Amino acid sequence: MASLREYLAAQENKSFLRFLTCGSVDDGKSTLIGRLLYDTKLLFDDQLATLEKDSKQHGTTGGDIDFALLVDGLEAEREQGITIDVAYRFFTTDKRKFIVADTPGHEQYTRNMATGASNSDLAVILIDARKGVLIQTRRHAYICSLLGIRHIVLAVNKIDLMDYRQDVFDAIVAEFTKFAEPLGFQSLVSIPMSARFGDNVIAASANTPWYDGPALLAHLESVDVDTAVTDGPFRMPVQWVNRPNLDFRGFSGTIVSGRIKPGDKIAVAGSGRTSTVARIVTQGGDLEAAAAGEAVTLMLADEVDISRGDVLSADKARPEVSDQFAAHLIWMAEEELLPGRGYILKLATAQVPAQITALKHKIDVNRLEQYAAKTLHLNEIGYVNVSLSQPIAFDPYAQNRDMGGFILIDRFTNATVGAGMIDFGLRRATNVHWQALDVNKQARAAQKHQKPAVLWFTGLSGSGKSTIANIVERQLHAQGRHTYILDGDNVRHGLNRDLGFTEADRVENIRRVAEIAKLFTDAGLIVLVSFISPFKSERRMARELMGEGEFVEVFVDTPLEVCIARDVKGLYAKAQAGAIKNFTGIDSPYERPETPELTLKTVASDPALEAERVLAFLREHGYVA
Ligand code: ADX
Repeated sequence: MASLREYLAAQENKSFLRFLTCGSVDDGKSTLIGRLLYDTKLLFDDQLATLEKDSKQHGTTGGDIDFALLVDGLEAEREQGITIDVAYRFFTTDKRKFIVADTPGHEQYTRNMATGASNSDLAVILIDARKGVLIQTRRHAYICSLLGIRHIVLAVNKIDLMDYRQDVFDAIVAEFTKFAEPLGFQSLVSIPMSARFGDNVIAASANTPWYDGPALLAHLESVDVDTAVTDGPFRMPVQWVNRPNLDFRGFSGTIVSGRIKPGDKIAVAGSGRTSTVARIVTQGGDLEAAAAGEAVTLMLADEVDISRGDVLSADKARPEVSDQFAAHLIWMAEEELLPGRGYILKLATAQVPAQITALKHKIDVNRLEQYAAKTLHLNEIGYVNVSLSQPIAFDPYAQNRDMGGFILIDRFTNATVGAGMIDFGLRRATNVHWQALDVNKQARAAQKHQKPAVLWFTGLSGSGKSTIANIVERQLHAQGRHTYILDGDNVRHGLNRDLGFTEADRVENIRRVAEIAKLFTDAGLIVLVSFISPFKSERRMARELMGEGEFVEVFVDTPLEVCIARDVKGLYAKAQAGAIKNFTGIDSPYERPETPELTLKTVASDPALEAERVLAFLREHGYVA
């Protein structure tokens, strides 16, 4: 019994190494992982029997055990319908416990690699000794560095196929080392290897007498990756407020950095309110102390207003709080990144509307060079400024992955479209404060005897938006109302003359006009906006910018064929001839509004009648007396 207890205690105290394997397709990742699992005796007998049988039937190794089959079998299963495609496998030796993230090697799987890397302390980058350093190798090394991996093993695999030659190994190592130097890894160990035959995987190989470094497993067992999050300042993002009855109010979450004990002073990042930890409550009773990695519920000495998404932090070492920051961003969606579009940002437990306000540059991962770009495509990496609708607490990613890593989510599909790493907060927002003015919106509107509003006309080019808006404004003006029309063609001659008709430019076009419309409502005006505004996302953004009930979406629903037949400006003819690119309805989409306040038909009706419907709406809803 004593020995069992000792054994369990030893297991308990073993350190954990989380690593990932990456490399190009066919570099031998699966074989390597299979070999590690096999040689560390972690395969069950029935798995082994199947493996031996399968190897004889389908293997590529002529009767020997084909370890790749073991891993690839699992992979095929995973391939069905799973977006983030990373397999985690667990194994253990006498010295350490391991979790290995196995990520596919195809270029389109960058996002999977990023997912694996964000959870790992070390990366094993495989290289096929016959092929040397490839684009994928550089790409993966760069992503590893971006995601905070400080330790790299360069596994020069299939060295058996190059006759175990030292010069081959040395040349590859030299090339990679040169490339990786600016990435600043803390350790880089290169190992000549044959995963298939086991050379230098578990034990030193007699086939590479010229190599005097460690075998892979020995290195994995001994490498010191202590990330020391427990030594960092205390951080606990609040997952939920635990209030089972009136006497108990606790804040639950996982500590992502530092330690805490009763009596410690904490601050709520954001509000800046402070208190003292009264108790650390867990399922198994109260704790004397807790540290990074533990999930706990904290009770505080004072009543402090705290909700999900807040971060409890050390009083003397608080995180940054800002609504703007600079970050690296890996784009993960088929649809391109559109600066100016609204996304949802999730960081730790916080979730807020966000925009990419600037794409500073794109990064050429092969040459580690920067170049200008207007958008990011799938798997591309850029450096961006992010702006949030409200401030959140964070730390730079380099200091804390949990407090500095975020994902972006599409507001309509809920898909994860990007993963980012915060570099630093932008001060400009922090130091610019909203100026309180004595004459406000209410005062301006009251003087004009009207309720400010935005009448947002959307529809195809030639649908009749401007014609109807024009009549509406004329009528309102005649009634003594104070109005202004923002018309797409006109605004594009001035403020927006730098913008064209790509998706990215249209998003920016609408963002700017929405901001202006907002200022004009603040001036107390009834604003008529007449822009194609083809995307749901930006119309929603415009709606959310305005006050409650201020936004009236008017869909001018004229069929495309009718607009083409009218072709007032002759643009449809040109677009159909291919002379104008990205023309709405021809080769650029129009997303119909789903629940507009008003839908106007112009085919069987007359613009004056439709304008009257808009005016009636304004009267009925009290915008004008
Ligand atoms: S939006 O899509 O960004 O909202 P906006 O309303 O500003 O478009 O501008 C549309 C006007 O620009 C059209 O009425 C048309 O006269 C002109 N135009 C020129 N090129 C295009 C194009 N490729 N697509 C749509 N409109 C175009």
